[in-house]
Amino acid sequence: MTEPLGIALVGCGTVGGGVAKILLEHGDRLARRAGRPLALRKVVVRDPAKSRPVALPPDLVTTDPRAALATPGVDVVVELIGGTTLARQVVLTALAAGKHVVTANKALLAEAGTEIFEAARQADRTVCFEAAVAGGVPIIRALGESLAANQVTAIQGILNGTSNFILTAMTERGMTYAAALAEAQRLGYAEADPTLDVDGSDAAHKLAILAQIAFGVAARPHEIERYGIDTLDAMDIRFADELGYTIKLLAEAWVGEETRNGERGTRNDKDNGSSSAPNSALRAPRSQTVALHVAPVLLRHTALLAQVRGAYNAIAVHGDLAGETLYQGPGAGMMPTASAVVADLIDLAVGRAQRTFAAAKLWSREHKGFTVAPAERVRSRFYLRLLVADRPGVLADVTRILADERISISSVVQHEAAEVGTEPVPLVIVTHYAETGWFRAAIGKINQLSAVAGPAVFYSMGD
Ligand SMILES: NC(=O)c1ccc[n+]([C@@H]2O[C@H](COP(=O)([O-])OP(=O)(O)OC[C@H]3O[C@@H](n4cnc5c(N)ncnc54)[C@H](OP(=O)(O)O)[C@@H]3O)[C@@H](O)[C@H]2O)c1
Repeated sequence: MTEPLGIALVGCGTVGGGVAKILLEHGDRLARRAGRPLALRKVVVRDPAKSRPVALPPDLVTTDPRAALATPGVDVVVELIGGTTLARQVVLTALAAGKHVVTANKALLAEAGTEIFEAARQADRTVCFEAAVAGGVPIIRALGESLAANQVTAIQGILNGTSNFILTAMTERGMTYAAALAEAQRLGYAEADPTLDVDGSDAAHKLAILAQIAFGVAARPHEIERYGIDTLDAMDIRFADELGYTIKLLAEAWVGEETRNGERGTRNDKDNGSSSAPNSALRAPRSQTVALHVAPVLLRHTALLAQVRGAYNAIAVHGDLAGETLYQGPGAGMMPTASAVVADLIDLAVGRAQRTFAAAKLWSREHKGFTVAPAERVRSRFYLRLLVADRPGVLADVTRILADERISISSVVQHEAAEVGTEPVPLVIVTHYAETGWFRAAIGKINQLSAVAGPAVFYSMGD
């Protein structure tokens, strides 16, 4: 058998612990798949006394990342400490020292992808990151390799398992947001500080990475408009259900500032009933801009992504040749994520990863890809929910403002007040396609109406 691939593991927590366990317990299987042994040469942790998912030989453990990089026979540095400060240093130092890098760190790639990939090219080394998006779901390979003949026209993804778990509990068991979050924390699906998961930031980091691969867009996370589920009211889940829709936190990218399905959006609602998917996947993209955002979106109950429950991730990809393909599975957790990291190590050991990396030119400054479409130009149908005084003329005032902004209405739901004098009452309006800018201008005026209590709540419709 040929020379082993020597590995320094920087970080041995949830994901790193899983990687160490696979390397130490499944060495024979991995060596067969890789054609040579995968040898764990050093493990960097903060606290060597902490217990790990697998017993580490004491001479492997260090608290000093520099010592790990300097260990003889290390070919690859696996960065699994998280964060963007020390992790960035470790990755750049490893590349400068001639090591390949494997990472699961989406925040780092989304923030510093250009710098890191440029450094890798300078050093003629490879950066692998299958685990950075959707954990155990092989979406990076699907986009970068399996669909390489396509121009992707749209991506719709449930990329944050914590948010999907909370939404599922709110939808199926009628829980409040606070109660569903508390349950997610008790079961280990949410961190003690869940902010990045529930405010859409984590999904935006992952979308930035997918957009880079699919469209060559170097979008920094702050350029991606994002809304989370942390302000979602259970009332809107119930109204969506009444209208035939399920609310999901979606990370979306589609070509052009037009609608999700490639239409200019002047037509009436065309209900194919089977999927939220764009129906023009086989059409060549007409535009060089790509709309990117993360937000709660109403999907028809029958849409495939509407049926993804609990902490799972799923991504629908529309290619101009392949049509729609769907990828689903565990988006986080020790073993699913470690499985993706070790697959990258096998690809490096075989030599596949180096060739794909060189050809892909990811995060390249020379890459002339798509640019990000201004959020105001994006066209969508909208769900609008107001709390209004139960008196004559309110609906007429609201519809006049919408009409003034060229927005036509698809449906209206208003229930009688439970008791006379119970105010305000919810008023729900679903629009036809409109530019986001027109819609927001209308919302600004509607919020000024004296009969409207509190700011309007609105979400995109995913079809
Ligand atoms: N958890 C998931 O399901 C998941 C899924 C996909 C991607 N990711 C990504 O994978 C990465 C790792 O996540 P994780 O959940 O495994 O994190 P974690 O459980 O917090 O583990 C972090 C590890 O890094 C070590 N570490 C932190 N700071 C250090 C320092 N200054 N010096 C030396 N060692 C240090 C810690 O040492 P101690 O153990 O001694 O404290 C620990 O072993 C992150 O980028 C995350 O976004 C995670």
